Amino acid sequence: MAYIVDMRSDTVTKPTKAMKQAMINSAVGDDVYQEDPTVNALESKIATLLGKQAALFVPSGTMSNLIAIMVHCNKRGSEVIVGELSHIFRYEVGGATHLAGVMLSNIPNKADGTFDLNVLERRIRGSDIHEPITSLVTIENTHNVCGGKALPLQWVDELAELCKKHKIPIHLDGARLFNACEYLQQSPARVARDCDSVSVCFSKGLAAPVGSALVGSYHFIEHARRVRKMLGGGMRQAGVLAAAALVALHEAVPRLAMDHKRARILAKVIDGLSLPSFRVDLENLHTNLVLVHIPEASPLRAAQVVERLAQVSLAETQGDCKTAKDEGVIVKVIQFNSKTIRLTLHLDITDEDLWLAIMKITYVFKEMDAAAN
Ligand SMILES: Cc1ncc(COP(=O)(O)O)c(C=O)c1O
Repeated sequence: MAYIVDMRSDTVTKPTKAMKQAMINSAVGDDVYQEDPTVNALESKIATLLGKQAALFVPSGTMSNLIAIMVHCNKRGSEVIVGELSHIFRYEVGGATHLAGVMLSNIPNKADGTFDLNVLERRIRGSDIHEPITSLVTIENTHNVCGGKALPLQWVDELAELCKKHKIPIHLDGARLFNACEYLQQSPARVARDCDSVSVCFSKGLAAPVGSALVGSYHFIEHARRVRKMLGGGMRQAGVLAAAALVALHEAVPRLAMDHKRARILAKVIDGLSLPSFRVDLENLHTNLVLVHIPEASPLRAAQVVERLAQVSLAETQGDCKTAKDEGVIVKVIQFNSKTIRLTLHLDITDEDLWLAIMKITYVFKEMDAAAN
């Protein structure tokens, strides 16, 4: 069987030994009664880390974002302004509209994950009886579709000023907030400072098996707890999961720098190949997500590249790659759009995996580029 290097996402990571041990030994109770000591410890720790009053452990980032929207937009006729490339708008199954009954109003994202604040201000509504009421603005940090970019702090500061002026809260989808902190060399409390609520995921770069936290004021979290129950997210002895998340905070956060370093090595190799069919934006690579773009003019499509990287040709087991692994190497990646693939560095990618992936990617990219040109 071919050796697999799975670079589809940082969600594919398996719990570490220390996480499993902590899960076995965790003290638990019924968390719906707020009697699970491990969940309580996790909520208190993450709230402190983010400089907020309280936190709520939830099953997923999607539920966390949805709860935040439901709490901020508890008035009918509300709208949320989101970036058109945001996870909330693109990948959360329209839950905000379907389940929360709010309108999502999207504005163009710039390549760095921000949006134009003048455009935002013009889109704020509610003074006219015919209009929905803008009740929330959401941002994403790091920005997934923009290639794991950390939002510039100054932009967030300016956004906060604008939202304050219009009395509109900000929700931060910080599924990869700790990656942003590592890149910016700032504390989570600083990066989240001006956001009224924040969602952070333990199951992405932090490698815990399950769970996210929604963080905000006491009042906000009190309301969020009821909404979580309504959505069926009230978990009972959830301490077994919170235990892994606590280890993740301790063990995986300091390691994120390594993922960023390996992402840079991989991107540099691809860039160094100088193949017209495959481009990386090395200058704007911030964290653990490497986007590879295929120029519009090329006949190649991202789906073909994903498929080819998942195959082992006869030549690979007999030729140059044979020395790496007898049965060949498969690199799993995902297609972001018809001309972009994403490669993700994470805790389960070792130096050897990176090296094998580089060999395979080099081989396949050269082969495909030669065939396309
Ligand atoms: C930026 C962002 N927000 C939210 C989510 C949703 O997280 P979950 O898969 O835990 O629902 C993801 C998932 O990848 C994400 O990338």
